[in-house]
Amino acid sequence: MEPTRRDILALGLAAGACAAVGGAAHAGPAARPAPFGAAVYLPDLEADPRLGAAIAARCQRVTPVNELKWTYSRPGPDAFDFAAGDRIADFARANGLAMHGHTLVWYAELPDWVNALSSAAEAEAALAKHIETTMLRYRDVARSWDVVNEPIPDVVRRPTDRRDSPWRALLGDGYIERAFRLAHEIDPDAQLVINEYDVEHATEYFPAKRRAFAHLIRELVEKDVPVHAVGLQGHLRGGVPIDSEELAEFVAEMRGLGLKILVTELDVIDAALPTPIEERDVLVARQVEEFLEAVTSSGPLDSITTWGLTDRFTWIGWAYKRIDGTGNRPLPLDADYRPKLMLDVIERFRRVA
Ligand code: G3I
Repeated sequence: MEPTRRDILALGLAAGACAAVGGAAHAGPAARPAPFGAAVYLPDLEADPRLGAAIAARCQRVTPVNELKWTYSRPGPDAFDFAAGDRIADFARANGLAMHGHTLVWYAELPDWVNALSSAAEAEAALAKHIETTMLRYRDVARSWDVVNEPIPDVVRRPTDRRDSPWRALLGDGYIERAFRLAHEIDPDAQLVINEYDVEHATEYFPAKRRAFAHLIRELVEKDVPVHAVGLQGHLRGGVPIDSEELAEFVAEMRGLGLKILVTELDVIDAALPTPIEERDVLVARQVEEFLEAVTSSGPLDSITTWGLTDRFTWIGWAYKRIDGTGNRPLPLDADYRPKLMLDVIERFRRVA
């Protein structure tokens, strides 16, 4: 009799599990699982009560997808609009969740007035005002922040390459150090994170980007800049191999520098994966397993956050539409909030010691 799908999945993932636990130097299950979080966009939270209920039931953290980005919270140089950010923070408070602040300094989502800044003094003043006002507003609920998001360009020629932005244009590469020092002055007890994507895979431009990211972090640590953690976004590209060995080495080096490791935006871009849902879900779960195995091979994660919780609300649905017209399946719950294999894998790796 042909093995059922469940048999195949159970065998496959169980084997993966054994390999994962047996293969790495894990000291058995952690005393306390790493916090699990989900990113949430306010219109989605307001559109579907099931979303808030699912996050409240399954998560310990929440990240505002867009609400604390400058185009949402900074209508002018002397103006702040925290209405949307406050709604996410209030949702977190009401459900006993921590909020992960995303993101204080980024090259993207900048209002025109920021792009019109014309001196180092203006840029420094704008950064200082934003970091102070935003961090202090949410200090009770946001105990960790993506201080600088995506500082490395996609195409890296030298490990010293840094992504262009108005901040870099006016302040030089030193804007990164400045942002972390300002954030630490404002909230000395907050966990300050440097956050990057496309550092997980083995092919194309990913290894060079990871090496430049490591170079930057070493530089910051050597200058005693208050960076506390590395944020691996984890927007995995389905079908593209994870650079398991080099990624594990990178993470081990970061831990050796005294930094925590967070997975901050996990999902799987499944646009190139097969149509059959069962097959696709296994491939997605396997890739998440390979990624999490690599990043936990030298120790536990400080937290795991997925970029959304349910396939019903995901940026991948519009950024990476599938040509077969079927819905994307990048997240731990399907569009009807049913758990998928990916959630099993996350739950397993939350417990790695
Ligand atoms: O909600 C409006 C809608 O009313 C309007 O009709 C539509 C068309 O203009 O835009 C909608 O807003 C969009 C929003 O996503 C919600 O879908 C914005 O235009 C669009 O810019 C915004 O994109 C966000 C993107 O960051 C840029 O800020 C995505 O939601 C968000 O998932 C994505 O998240 C980033 C992280 O912040 C950093 N790491 C990568 C990650 C994925 O790109």
